[in-house]
Amino acid sequence: MDLTFGGTLRIPLIAAPMFLVSTPALALATCSRGIMGTFPAHCTRSHKAFQDWILEMEAGLDALDSPAPWGVNLVVHPSNARMEGDLELCIQHEVPVVLTSKGSPDNVFDRIHEYGGIIFHDVASARHAEKAAAAGADGLIAVCGGAGGHTGTINPFALVNEIREVTDKPIILSGALSTGRDVLAAQTMGAALAYMGTRFIPAVESGADEHYRQMLINCSSKDVFYSAALDGAPANWITPSLIESGIDLKELATTVPGEVVSAGVVRERYSKVKSCGHGVGMIKQVESAADICDRIIAEYERAKSELASALVA
Ligand SMILES: Cc1cc2nc3c(=O)[nH]c(=O)nc-3n(C[C@H](O)[C@H](O)[C@H](O)COP(=O)(O)O)c2cc1C
Repeated sequence: MDLTFGGTLRIPLIAAPMFLVSTPALALATCSRGIMGTFPAHCTRSHKAFQDWILEMEAGLDALDSPAPWGVNLVVHPSNARMEGDLELCIQHEVPVVLTSKGSPDNVFDRIHEYGGIIFHDVASARHAEKAAAAGADGLIAVCGGAGGHTGTINPFALVNEIREVTDKPIILSGALSTGRDVLAAQTMGAALAYMGTRFIPAVESGADEHYRQMLINCSSKDVFYSAALDGAPANWITPSLIESGIDLKELATTVPGEVVSAGVVRERYSKVKSCGHGVGMIKQVESAADICDRIIAEYERAKSELASALVA
């Protein structure tokens, strides 16, 4: 598998899908600078809205010269009522990369492979990785401790090493990566691609509101609160957003996963409670996605030449 996607990826980086943050404008902007752009299907409120986003991507990409590939995040769990319809749209439009999470039901991977789609599947442990590799995933997104959104807990060195023992499928490293140097570090660890979410939240093209962007600028890793109690799955939250929402941090820290709020309340809560990864300290300003991409690419090139000099010395 050509993970440079015919040389259209300028550096081995994916701008990760983020609920209520990703937009076609953000994905198009990163694709235009040579970084894979993505969004979750469930970012849209309906099947029709998802189709509109796909059409917007296709039209936008047509206007670009050699854009990087793009991808859609699909929750492939039976609990996702839209799964079948959204999958059909990915098949119809031949979405080049499908980022799957939360399961690997029979024949979903086959149906994506049939049109030539590439599947990268979220994993948080070597056992998940082994199962996803056996089910036919083309790459494994190693979601490590410190990632934004629903996170893993395992240290990236430990997780990459353990995944390497069970499969040689490409690894996409996720969790608190923020700079071009981090992308190079991921490659050095044996990852084929890096995955960055939080770094793109403050982009002007994202769906984040002004308050969220400012919170990120003011926060660092010490302001990230890990809890599974908010919606039942382990996730990293911005502490000031929890406090503003009137959530008792002591209760959150000690509550059994899933017992604090019902799933129905979660969507409403997400409008107030915000998430980010441990890399938030590297966010200094609101700027265009193109500027963020260009900075990361320049950092990557600088880190490469500094490393080359250090290795020769
Ligand atoms: C606000 C937010 C929302 C997210 N939503 C999703 C999502 O809907 N689907 C998904 O697969 N990952 C989601 N993620 C996880 C990212 O795709 C990625 O794994 C993570 O952001 C990487 O860690 P980083 O934020 O430290 O770079 C989300 C992350 C954040 C910060």
